[in-house]
Amino acid sequence: GGTAVRGERFSGGPARGFLSSMAADERIFEADLAVDRAHVVMLAEQGIVGDDEAGQILQALNVVEVEEHKELPDGEDVHEAIESKVIAIAGDVGGKMHTARSRNDEVATCIRYRLREDVLAALDAVNDARAALVEVADAEGETLMPGYTHLQSAQPTTVGHWALSYAGALARDADRLLDAYERVNESPLGAAAFAGTPFDVDRDRTAELLGFAGLVENATDAVAARDHLVEVASALASVATHLSGLAEDLVIFANRGFVELDDAYSSTSSIMPQKKNPDTLELVRATAGDASAGLNGLLSTLKGLPRAYNRDLQSATPHVWSTVDAVTEATSVAAGAVATAEWPSEALAEAAGEGFSTATAVADVLAMADVPFRQAHEVLATASEQADGSAPSVDTIAAVVEDVLGESMETYVDEATVADALDPAANVAMRDSVGGPAPEAVASQVANAAD
Ligand code: ARG
Repeated sequence: GGTAVRGERFSGGPARGFLSSMAADERIFEADLAVDRAHVVMLAEQGIVGDDEAGQILQALNVVEVEEHKELPDGEDVHEAIESKVIAIAGDVGGKMHTARSRNDEVATCIRYRLREDVLAALDAVNDARAALVEVADAEGETLMPGYTHLQSAQPTTVGHWALSYAGALARDADRLLDAYERVNESPLGAAAFAGTPFDVDRDRTAELLGFAGLVENATDAVAARDHLVEVASALASVATHLSGLAEDLVIFANRGFVELDDAYSSTSSIMPQKKNPDTLELVRATAGDASAGLNGLLSTLKGLPRAYNRDLQSATPHVWSTVDAVTEATSVAAGAVATAEWPSEALAEAAGEGFSTATAVADVLAMADVPFRQAHEVLATASEQADGSAPSVDTIAAVVEDVLGESMETYVDEATVADALDPAANVAMRDSVGGPAPEAVASQVANAAD
């Protein structure tokens, strides 16, 4: 019959392997069976095929499912292979399965069907990482640590405050993924090749059977659209970029003895027996490269395509699969590394005051006593120079105040207030503005993050 003729003319010849998407289609095998079933049920409900015919096709699909897709004929893609198998099992009636549809709406539906579960798995991993960070914030809300800008000692902060900075970023990424999910969760099925069908298909019904929230209405848009893949890859690239910063921080902290990574998240050297290396975090850091490559691969492949299904789209799809796999795995690993890390509080407290990190707070107490901040800044810059980079004594600061401002320090603040500002713990406690590192401000951020 017609299938044989089609098979002979379009066997692919030397380009057969090049045309084939069978290897990548492994991932949408289950999705294709679900899409076939929903389509056939709808065709029967609409009276487009007989109930008995639909029953035979559905039975053949069950056989295909239990017989394992490894035994599928080596077709151009999974859609063609499953259809050939259905025809081989059910006979010519199997050829009715492809009534009122095209592989174009079929593949677009399969990708969305499968991607929904992948986006939800990625979201789970992101939420696990958020929970691990919020737990660190809860446990280490008063654990002092040095805060850096430009990788130089800047102001004392806490481990909890640091952790919450990433929890906030990942909360936005979770929103991005959920938002992208809504666009993924729309059905292109029933669009046929790009121009609809004369059959009285019920697109809402297949959408409902497949659990989609609605339709991609325009038939050409339905088969051509891949911007939902761009959105997913973009949200994942943002996750991976945030995690690369988190991983980089942890690599630096580990190097300075500020964090102790669990052995399960470290590796050793094949030659240097004493080494405990943060390799898992370096691979998390590298995942930002994979995600960026996936997003760019997608966008470059989609650019300039004429509005329709083009076979280029077959090459676009794997970019989103590799991106979602890489980012989900890296996110789970990062969550585990954070959840199991130990924070050596003594070493951290010791380092928190290094490099005159308390200078800003001393300037702040002068400014709170009405010294213009620019002058207070000058006082502390001078005191810092005199102390050669470490924290100056209260006496040194008092002498500089007199020099620069022409009044004794006591005119503005008492010695105890300055001494407090020089103490890293009191220094952190002062910064109780909304979102600041003071323990009560961190506690309120933890409460908001848990909402
Ligand atoms: N394997 C193809 C893909 O992944 C299926 C669609 C084929 N459609 C076509 N008109 N050649 O996109």
